[in-house]
Amino acid sequence: MPSLSVDVGGLRLKNPVMLAAGILGTTGASLRRAALAGAGGVVTKSLGTSPREGHPGPTVVQVECGLLNAMGLPNPSYREFQEEIEIARTGGAPVVASIFGSSPEEFAQIARGLKADAFELNLSCPHAENYGSELGRFPAMVEAVTGAVKAAADAPVWVKLTPNTADIVELGLAAQRGGADAVVAINTLKAMAIDIESGCPILGNGLGGLSGQAIKPVAVRCIYELAMRLEIPVIGVGGVGSWEDAVEMMMAGASAVQVGTAMLKGYGVFEEITGGLSRFLERKSLELEELRFMAGRRS
Ligand code: FUM
Repeated sequence: MPSLSVDVGGLRLKNPVMLAAGILGTTGASLRRAALAGAGGVVTKSLGTSPREGHPGPTVVQVECGLLNAMGLPNPSYREFQEEIEIARTGGAPVVASIFGSSPEEFAQIARGLKADAFELNLSCPHAENYGSELGRFPAMVEAVTGAVKAAADAPVWVKLTPNTADIVELGLAAQRGGADAVVAINTLKAMAIDIESGCPILGNGLGGLSGQAIKPVAVRCIYELAMRLEIPVIGVGGVGSWEDAVEMMMAGASAVQVGTAMLKGYGVFEEITGGLSRFLERKSLELEELRFMAGRRS
């Protein structure tokens, strides 16, 4: 069987299929379970400087081809979560802490105080006032936040980018200038659903972020554009639910992928994707590295 291990953004992963931020990342036990089920790495739910309840419900609704969520970054604060990260680590896969803040200083405070194998900077949540894409849509702010965390952290720094912009490459280049070890693309697409009987928005927050199968072609395009221009690795996320999706994202330029909404299928999804990926490489007589950016080299 071909080797699936990969070095990406300062981490060595036993395989390139990770658990994405937000889904099942709220406890050490669920992160550990994902690692034991075969994830190459696991990402926590986003952590901030102080406890946050998040938006009023409903916070998640199933729509055609995906999920719409507006959780509102609920979390117990990074200090309260350290113990969960230690539990997650017993699963044997690197644990990446997703973190958010309203300024470079807040991001740096968390990166200084929290121990994790890497940090993923949430500069892309599309529905939380003063956070996420409200900072992350400005290249200068992406560069400043990344630089501040790089100076404060003793672990690799990944930057999760928003697709809700005219030019994601500008944001990726800003992260690279700030010293990022990798970018993660993409977070959810800003979206909305309305209940036609009442005329009311379904989500408590009104607006939310769309994830799942529907956004995969957008993610593939963003990964491709980033891979064409960036020197640092791109980690793909957005609609990965099968080994075919993982292969497609790698062919677009991803060095690794993350699984979010497809976790609804259960923890077995990691073995399903890594198994299919191995068999595909064997059938095509390819090494994993040869998949990366194949579409770019052939276009
Ligand atoms: O609301 C949330 O917690 C989602 C965060 C995100 O989309 O990054």
